[in-house]
Amino acid sequence: MKNRERFSSRLGFILISVGCAVGLGNVWRFPYITGKYGGAAFVLIYLIFLAILGLPIMVMEFAVGRASQKSIAKSYHVLEPKGTKWHWAGYVAVAGNYMLMMFYTTIGGWMLAYTVKTAMGEFSGLSAEAVGGVFTSMLGQPGYMLFWMLVTVILSFGVCSLGLQKGVERITKIMMSCLFLILLVLCIRSVTLPGAMEGIRFYLVPDFQKMWENGFADAVFAAMGQAFFTLSLGIGAMSIFGSYISKERALLGESLNICILDTVVALLSGLIIFPACFAFQVNPGEGPGLVFVTLPNIFNQMAGGRLWGSLFFLFMSFAALSTIIAVFENILSCTMDMFDWSRKKAVLINAVLVTLLSLPCLLGFNLLSGFAPFGEGTTIQDLEDFILSNNLLPLGSLVFLLFCTTRYGWGFQNFLKEANTGTGLKFPARLRFYVSYILPLIVIFIFILGYWQKFA
Ligand code: ALA
Repeated sequence: MKNRERFSSRLGFILISVGCAVGLGNVWRFPYITGKYGGAAFVLIYLIFLAILGLPIMVMEFAVGRASQKSIAKSYHVLEPKGTKWHWAGYVAVAGNYMLMMFYTTIGGWMLAYTVKTAMGEFSGLSAEAVGGVFTSMLGQPGYMLFWMLVTVILSFGVCSLGLQKGVERITKIMMSCLFLILLVLCIRSVTLPGAMEGIRFYLVPDFQKMWENGFADAVFAAMGQAFFTLSLGIGAMSIFGSYISKERALLGESLNICILDTVVALLSGLIIFPACFAFQVNPGEGPGLVFVTLPNIFNQMAGGRLWGSLFFLFMSFAALSTIIAVFENILSCTMDMFDWSRKKAVLINAVLVTLLSLPCLLGFNLLSGFAPFGEGTTIQDLEDFILSNNLLPLGSLVFLLFCTTRYGWGFQNFLKEANTGTGLKFPARLRFYVSYILPLIVIFIFILGYWQKFA
């Protein structure tokens, strides 16, 4: 049997897991849904869900990965009781990773394109309308988007092709260090803008009254969904990194570090965006266009805006690429486990496959825009996001939960032993009732609520 590759250091493991978690979910999705649901009250609920839902499920993913020493395509085979069918869920999880990349590569490409556009001064002197026009016109050019999607796919698989330590670990460490640095610089710039205080208040002082008026259940549902999405839970994207670490550390402490770092990035991203919105009188509840339409306008009005804007989109690009590289690593590992391919062969085949799979999302904004799966104005990207965020992530997480708690699966004792091997914070055995009964109910509730909200 081939020796399994390993991270060279604990820092590498933590930064790559954080890189997988920190992505468009933190820097793009989190700020705009926070804006939509009224700021701080939403943030508070989101934080509660991260702690009661995200953290325990992350420990389970790492435990499954570390105990099986396999990617999710094969983890269930190793750990399930003989004759059971848990491994079917493993294949669904693999599909979930592809589904995530089917729209992530396109948006990652937008980030790269915007970094270059801003650095070249393409937005300088444009009216607010013209800035919006740049985004709309980009969506109408499949060739242009294809170019940037290809750059994203080739760059990211290129990094993975160098191997776990020399490629994924080394490059992600550099990117994440730069990301934290740029994040701090941008935060300081934004909170010191004249008029920033109002934005900080909107973001940090909860107003439950307002949230109630805007639909409390909606906000709670969005907060729960965001907790899954931001931690990439339910599809084995995290469990793979458990398979690359030693038994030196217990898994709760490691998961806690990762959750905290992921949250810090999300919170600080808001601290860049909201003060700037208020300083330049821009509506923070703008929706998904916030980053691409609103922010270039803000940078346009700012002294040195070209520099700040380029830094901002570079930061966004690093966040997107760190997730893409991490998920590609998982996809590679899954196909290597399943078909016994070499890394090189897996890279070549998957690069072609992911490119082809990314086309529906990309073309959904132009040639295929006639297909509006959820009514006018919606696109194939919305459909893919729905399949992933409302189905594969919660259901995959539910399977992890049940697998780690019932005796028909791997069982609580096995899970606990694995999670608590090593030094550091231990998973409390007294949480057994909570994770076995209450947590699955919460997840099922989210799932049903998601459908109710979408279709009722
Ligand atoms: N966890 C990834 C993100 O937040 C998917 O974007």
